[in-house]
Amino acid sequence: MKIGRNDTCPCGSGLKYKKCCMLKQGKREANLKDLYYNKHRIRLKDEKDIQGIRNAGVLVMDTLKMVREHLRPGLTTEAINTLVHDFTVRHQAVPAPLNYNGFPKSVCISINEEICHGIPGPREIQEGDIVNIDVTSILDGYYADANQTFLAGSVSDKARKIVAVALESLRRGLAQIKPGNRLGDIGWAIQDYAEDQGCSVVREMVGHGIGFDFHEPPQVPHFGKKGHGLELVPGMVFTVEPMINLGGRELKILDDKWTAVTRDRSLSAQFEQTVVVTREGFESLTPF
Ligand code: MF3
Ligand code: CO
Ligand code: CO
Repeated sequence: MKIGRNDTCPCGSGLKYKKCCMLKQGKREANLKDLYYNKHRIRLKDEKDIQGIRNAGVLVMDTLKMVREHLRPGLTTEAINTLVHDFTVRHQAVPAPLNYNGFPKSVCISINEEICHGIPGPREIQEGDIVNIDVTSILDGYYADANQTFLAGSVSDKARKIVAVALESLRRGLAQIKPGNRLGDIGWAIQDYAEDQGCSVVREMVGHGIGFDFHEPPQVPHFGKKGHGLELVPGMVFTVEPMINLGGRELKILDDKWTAVTRDRSLSAQFEQTVVVTREGFESLTPF
């Protein structure tokens, strides 16, 4: 049941709701907004901001769907880059990776032992590859970020396993998101599951606040301790994007200065969503 502005306040004060607890709730929210900014530089989002990020998220997910429909052995990663770039621009949006800290392309494509930040080029997708496509779009000034790992044709059991573990890791992390829980609860749930499956969690790259900018505070580690870290509050918007390796967790950056690969060259998979903390739990702004 929803309380109307002019109803009697349920707290028993005898005042109208709008003159009592509704007002206090508004003040609490304003205080929290200032506190999270001053203490952590986290910019909590309001309804209008969330709608903007949700719109960007719809475009990101439409882009991933479009790529999935084109993906086949023989396609070059450069061709995928062109598909993403043109689709984004055609929808009045901007591909956030292009020129971001010098990144030369409009999408990150990471294959097999590549963990993340792969640069599109002449490489052809091969039957049996696992291919991560990481799309970030800016629409009306708002950013949304999501990625998925696709299977090219029929793949090995190992490939199937690491992709399944990465997806379930994301799901378990997301399931922890609600006000009162902490960032460490998300990381703990991911690490506990992935390591239990005999896999490892990359430490060097983490999820991040997003919305007004590509990477905002806070950092969202995919490992951690239950009950530790910053408390989640409504209006926080961030990504969860665990990178899970079949072998060791250590990484190496290639000579191109971007591509991260597993040091032992074992397979790595990743899934990412952008979410907002709500009063009840969370809403994915890039749902799948
Ligand atoms: N999309 C990546 C992330 O999830 C960041 C890519 S940065 C780029 O945070 F420059 F490589 F595009
Ligand atoms: Co991200
Ligand atoms: Co991303």
